[in-house]
Amino acid sequence: MDVIPGLPQGKALDILQSAPILNFDGQLTGTNDYRETADSEVVIITSGLSRKPGMTRDQLLLANMKIVAEVTRNVVKYSPKCIIIMVTNPLEAMTHLAIQTSKFPRDRVIGLSGVLDAARFSSFIAAELKVSPTDVSACVLGSHGKNMVVIPRLTTVKGTPVTKILPKETIDELVARTIEGGSEIVGLLKTGSAFYAPSAAATRMAEAIILDKKEILPCAAYLQGEYGIKDTVVGVPVKLGRNGIEQIIELELTKEEKQALAISAKGVQELVRAMKSG
Ligand code: 2OP
Repeated sequence: MDVIPGLPQGKALDILQSAPILNFDGQLTGTNDYRETADSEVVIITSGLSRKPGMTRDQLLLANMKIVAEVTRNVVKYSPKCIIIMVTNPLEAMTHLAIQTSKFPRDRVIGLSGVLDAARFSSFIAAELKVSPTDVSACVLGSHGKNMVVIPRLTTVKGTPVTKILPKETIDELVARTIEGGSEIVGLLKTGSAFYAPSAAATRMAEAIILDKKEILPCAAYLQGEYGIKDTVVGVPVKLGRNGIEQIIELELTKEEKQALAISAKGVQELVRAMKSG
């Protein structure tokens, strides 16, 4: 679904024509009409502007707020029982807005952040160690931006914490590169932001829900006291299944990690306030 005539129809045809090669089946439709999205089980919202080189995600707030509110209203009108996966930036503020606009319970509005950010950290570690990226399990919490909380202590390569394998300076560099992971790609592409890894991450979340996998993934969730944070969307590990967020997992964090998460939450609260006055 897109507002630009022909664009979603063309993309749908292009993807559909890859089916015989990639061996998948099913129907695919591109549309400019929300009515055709009726009774969707999962809706992934990516609508909005993406960054230009040098911009932060937060600078998209006021433009994307109007778009996401309008899109969410239409999604809810035609698919009142759906689960929403938010991809639009600034991610936590847009997830908050979608919860408010949809009036859905928090279990049914989930933001894409940690799956993508952890994948970035994992891929950097794998390249550094020359191991398979699938052997790395990265822990990235907090918000999808400068206040991201990358936790090397809980990041492992087949069970061994990365802190025992790589020197601290290398880890620090990879953490910094992860936090700037989206900007690095925006800077290279110049006209648009990352595409493949975000869509792979959204697909992973959608599959966990549709296939009722009960998979624990780091996602942006509306916290109501967990980790000492209230009424704020922040990235934490959640169990995803048929009902959306089925459990919020509370990791044992150090004092510093908890403080970093609180800083993430504060940044999100500031954006939510700015939306109210904007
Ligand atoms: C990214 O980090 C688009 O926010 C997304 O690439």
